[in-house]
Amino acid sequence: MAWQHTAIQLPMSKILWIKLLIPMITGEEVPAEKTEQMLVEAKNNMQLFEEKFLQDKMFITGDHISLADLVALVEMMQPMGSKYNVFVNSSKIAEWRMRVELAIGSGLFWEAHDRLMKLAEWDCSTLDPMVKEKICELLQKFK
Ligand SMILES: *[C@@H]1O[C@H](CO)[C@@H](O)[C@H](O)[C@H]1NC(C)=O
Repeated sequence: MAWQHTAIQLPMSKILWIKLLIPMITGEEVPAEKTEQMLVEAKNNMQLFEEKFLQDKMFITGDHISLADLVALVEMMQPMGSKYNVFVNSSKIAEWRMRVELAIGSGLFWEAHDRLMKLAEWDCSTLDPMVKEKICELLQKFK
């Protein structure tokens, strides 16, 4: 669970921030070098997830879906909000993703991700200026 927080949750949410939210809210791109660094880290961690956790199993803990699958997948879906697909190069992880989706039902799965998938269409002009300022500060950290 500790690995999940640092190796999956953090990099996955950072991809969404770097590729979509920061540019959308501040009007400025995150430097390409920082973006690339983040993507490399995410790719390495996805590979570790496949080799160490998923292996050749149906689900993370074996033949049945568990909370571990949901906790992992909900994070890996985050970059999708910025149209970045982390499943594209691994058939093993892509098939696992599909098994999790089917186990909980596609309707419910996509309903739960509805806001995320529409995030790019969100009108951020209504955002509280204080929040926007905080996000501009966040951008500075990537410079
Ligand atoms: C998938 O592979 C292509 C070609 O090697 C690479 O450019 C791309 O960054 C990879 N995408 C992910 C999400 O790993």
